[in-house]
Amino acid sequence: MDLPPCLSMFKPSAYLFIVFLLFLAQTDGVFSGCYTSIFSFGDSLADTGNYAYAEETKRVYDNLPYGETFFHQPTGRCSDGRLVIDFIAQALGISLVPPYLGHSKKDFSQGVNFAVVGATALDSAFFEERGVKIMTNYSLGVQLEWFKSLLPSLCISPSNCNSMLGDSLFLVGEIGGNDYNDPFFQKRSVEEVRMIVPTVIDTISSTITALIDAGAVTLMVPGNLPIGCSSSYLTIFQSSQDKDDYDPSTGCITWLNEFSQYHNQLLQNELNRLRELHPHANIIYADYYNVAMELFQYPTRSGFKQDVLMACCGGGGPYNYNLTAKCGSEGSSSCEDPSLYVNWDGVHLTEAAYKWITNGLLKGLFTTPPINISCKLDS
Ligand SMILES: *[C@@H]1O[C@H](CO)[C@@H](O)[C@H](O)[C@H]1NC(C)=O
Ligand SMILES: *[C@@H]1O[C@H](CO)[C@@H](O)[C@H](O)[C@H]1NC(C)=O
Ligand SMILES: *[C@@H]1O[C@H](CO)[C@@H](O)[C@H](O)[C@H]1NC(C)=O
Repeated sequence: MDLPPCLSMFKPSAYLFIVFLLFLAQTDGVFSGCYTSIFSFGDSLADTGNYAYAEETKRVYDNLPYGETFFHQPTGRCSDGRLVIDFIAQALGISLVPPYLGHSKKDFSQGVNFAVVGATALDSAFFEERGVKIMTNYSLGVQLEWFKSLLPSLCISPSNCNSMLGDSLFLVGEIGGNDYNDPFFQKRSVEEVRMIVPTVIDTISSTITALIDAGAVTLMVPGNLPIGCSSSYLTIFQSSQDKDDYDPSTGCITWLNEFSQYHNQLLQNELNRLRELHPHANIIYADYYNVAMELFQYPTRSGFKQDVLMACCGGGGPYNYNLTAKCGSEGSSSCEDPSLYVNWDGVHLTEAAYKWITNGLLKGLFTTPPINISCKLDS
């Protein structure tokens, strides 16, 4: 383009001005706020009761002390209390998001939760072919189909649907953790597990695209937690011989945390690509990894006990994680005050940790671009 002389002399500043305009345009999309409902996809980090309803065989999550802190009874949530999705709903002033299974559509006026404990991003056939056992067939693809078949019943007309979805916050994940947990816990090599990461990212990406095509505007996509700080991984991959495996400042297993970061890096690269393809959408990365690392690095600063790698609820062992006596089953016991612990049952975190993580996300320090849940002042 031909710039007028005064501008061509100052091309850099004209360039900066355009960048500034783009910045304004972008921030305008960021501060949407005021979400009236939540649609959620994912696994046990977000399940508010689907798994408990779906599976005939009762799981440990159906027993106390699960739910003891906030609900005073098990709810199907894998924690002592509320999860990140619950704290986000409360911050938005809407009701806790009901699970899709076992509820009727009249309960879904402020959102619906499709997340299932044990869910993988990839479909069950992928794991079946490779001889890896998984907990549930309700993969991300199945959850997306649930959403698509439910949607027509949630709105009166297509235009009503568009405004309803535009005002909704979509939580896509965390998902992918089980795609790695299952093979890792079945002793597959890190090289083998690493090979599936790009396929997991592709699946998350195509789900995001499908949601945007259906009318989603704001999507929050969490990355993976630092699995090297998880009591279960620390127990299963315990190595007394190789001190180099451990990060001296946290006691977490370095190569496992690097694995989480590898997933998170590919995910963020993909989100950047999606933002360019869908400039009108607000695709927010939620940095679960780094917000949780603050807890593992400086637990006492955040009000947790120093011995932060120890699970609150479990059946003994150096990290209080015991495969033959998991939390909720015979032989396990629970700590007195879960609010001092980050690790709940060795795999999942405590309500106190989820609350802390949510604060980090909603303050905008660990969301890119920063999420803003205060309502737009339309005048
Ligand atoms: C998952 O699918 C396989 C067949 O593909 C079936 O044998 C199994 O029962 C299913 N599991 C669940 C939990 O639905
Ligand atoms: C794990 O649990 C089993 C069954 O309750 C128990 O026999 C064993 O001693 C426990 N292991 C540790 C390390 O506490
Ligand atoms: C959030 O959005 C509101 C309304 O658009 C604005 O007034 C407020 O400053 C924003 N907050 C942050 C942290 O950017």
